[in-house]
Amino acid sequence: MRIISVINAKGGCGKSTIAMSLAAGLGLRGRKVLLVDMDPQAQITLWLNAGDGLSIPGSLLSAFLGRQTLREVIQKTALPGVSFVASTDALEEFGRRVTEDSDYATLFARLLLDPGTPTFDFAVIDSPNQISPIMENAVFATDLFVVPFESTKSVRSYANFFKLVLKLRPEEDHVTLHVLSNLSRQPGLRTEVLQVMNSHGIWPARTEVRSCGWLARVDEHGGSIFRYRPHSHGAEDMAALTDEVLSFFQPVKKAPKASERPAK
Ligand SMILES: Nc1ncnc2c1ncn2[C@@H]1O[C@H](COP(=O)(O)OP(=O)(O)O)[C@@H](O)[C@H]1O
Ligand SMILES: [Mg+2]
Repeated sequence: MRIISVINAKGGCGKSTIAMSLAAGLGLRGRKVLLVDMDPQAQITLWLNAGDGLSIPGSLLSAFLGRQTLREVIQKTALPGVSFVASTDALEEFGRRVTEDSDYATLFARLLLDPGTPTFDFAVIDSPNQISPIMENAVFATDLFVVPFESTKSVRSYANFFKLVLKLRPEEDHVTLHVLSNLSRQPGLRTEVLQVMNSHGIWPARTEVRSCGWLARVDEHGGSIFRYRPHSHGAEDMAALTDEVLSFFQPVKKAPKASERPAK
């Protein structure tokens, strides 16, 4: 299983929108996907109508607390190929207490590795809006970070997130896609964001998620931009993002051994 976190310590930059559409896109590409709401604001939980964002039973927190297994809190969704784990607002309070446990940052990774947890091709995590022990759980488990930028502030908050990555994953290469999000209707701001990114040596991903009113309303229609408005900019960009993400996980073709090469 490969873990993708849509992450940035800044609210309103498009994390939940991207996480939900990326999961839907991977599902449509035939992958088995576990979408995980790790944000106490429970945005995707509400968008998917998969919980009230307040109850602990059936949520990720219930599994964190050991009251239920991860398997028991995984729900089916209307999105093809996509299963879901709901969030609850009490996750925030739990995050404040959990640091008493020395290996708290590995809690989520351990749940995924539990032999009773079903296997998936991808887990897509929607992360909280602030640096927190819950965010550390996402960072610890992640293979690929998708970081949306919709303002110069979101570029600056990236520094704090990056420090966290270096703290928790000091020896590893980090694959990160820095995605311009919801900026196409503000060309001046878009240029400014690109300039700030450039001055910090941050390169934008090939895919940009342009501003698209349908993306802002996709929750009203079951959560899939691909089904709701398949010909919109939003669907086009989320499909391109899905393909860009998948390109990082294509199996590398090995060069044939000398003995396997055709004779000249
Ligand atoms: N590409 C986009 N075009 C138009 N609206 C967007 C786009 N991305 C996000 N939004 C809207 O912006 C707001 C914040 O997005 P959201 O995904 O909730 O951000 P975050 O999870 O980072 O807080 C939401 O109302 C969402 O519908
Ligand atoms: Mg969100």
